[in-house]
Amino acid sequence: MWRDSFRLQIFCLLMAVLAIVVLVHNFFQLEHMDDDTISGSNWITENNVQHSLSQTTKTTRKPYCSYKQQTLSKREQAEQESLLAAILWPKPPDGKIAFVESTDPAHSDFVIVKPVRFFKVGDELEVLVRMKDFQGKPKQYGGDYLQARIHSPLLKAGATGRIVDCHNGLYKVFFTLLWPGEVKVSVSLVHPSEAIQVLLRLREERPDRVYFKSSFKSGKYSETTECNVCLPGDLPVCNFTDLYTGEPWFCYKPRKLSCASRISHAKGGYQKGLLTQEESLFFQSDVNIKRPILSSGPDSVIVKSKAFT
Ligand SMILES: *[C@@H]1O[C@H](CO)[C@@H](O)[C@H](O)[C@H]1NC(C)=O
Repeated sequence: MWRDSFRLQIFCLLMAVLAIVVLVHNFFQLEHMDDDTISGSNWITENNVQHSLSQTTKTTRKPYCSYKQQTLSKREQAEQESLLAAILWPKPPDGKIAFVESTDPAHSDFVIVKPVRFFKVGDELEVLVRMKDFQGKPKQYGGDYLQARIHSPLLKAGATGRIVDCHNGLYKVFFTLLWPGEVKVSVSLVHPSEAIQVLLRLREERPDRVYFKSSFKSGKYSETTECNVCLPGDLPVCNFTDLYTGEPWFCYKPRKLSCASRISHAKGGYQKGLLTQEESLFFQSDVNIKRPILSSGPDSVIVKSKAFT
């Protein structure tokens, strides 16, 4: 009896020691795994830090952009030219424009040209948009990014307009009236032309502005690194260039894993702090990004169905 209970006690003690050993082992393993994942994400952070450092100290960054040295076939050359022609955008006349001289949607307005008592379905509606700066002075050049639409909220109907930049601060918008009823015109400034110039600069100078990331995994160990069409710095990279199309794609090489262990691809985010203080004034969400431009007169028309004519 006494022997049995002693054996039971020994057994329980052994089990308890075993449980502690397993617990401690798991704990260390978990901690180790944490180390791995953290070091993986540190890699990304370190890259970011490196970016911002090289930016502030203005060291000579040599972004590796192999796509800029790509040799294009005749067909690719033609395609590139037609794409570039399609996104061609007028430039403000002077390089540096002060914020107060940039487009102010609140000072700008639009009018419906030749409003008649009734329009018919199928008629064209013309709207004139007049851009002004923050001092209320008419703009003398174009290049603003506008969006214009006609819509009838009750009918859940809407259509976009065709915008013509007159390059003098005026824009014509043409709509085809497609349905009968009360049709409202809405115009908004997506970006002032001065902001477009900044976006152009970023596109040319910072192709890494929008960055991506990939995870590399082997067993329980994983790392995440940054990826893009070209990566700045002299760190080792993995070359994931498409062998068939030649589209370049690179990721920083993970520290401990091979390039072949890549398991995912995801958007990383936007590089921050790329704008100068002056430039950032052209990107104020409550001032000049996606802001409505109001009509100085009526902003809606009555459209009759064709049967009424
Ligand atoms: C990446 O791979 C492509 C296709 O194999 C090759 O043409 C290119 O030179 C490589 N770039 C680098 C930096 O290794």
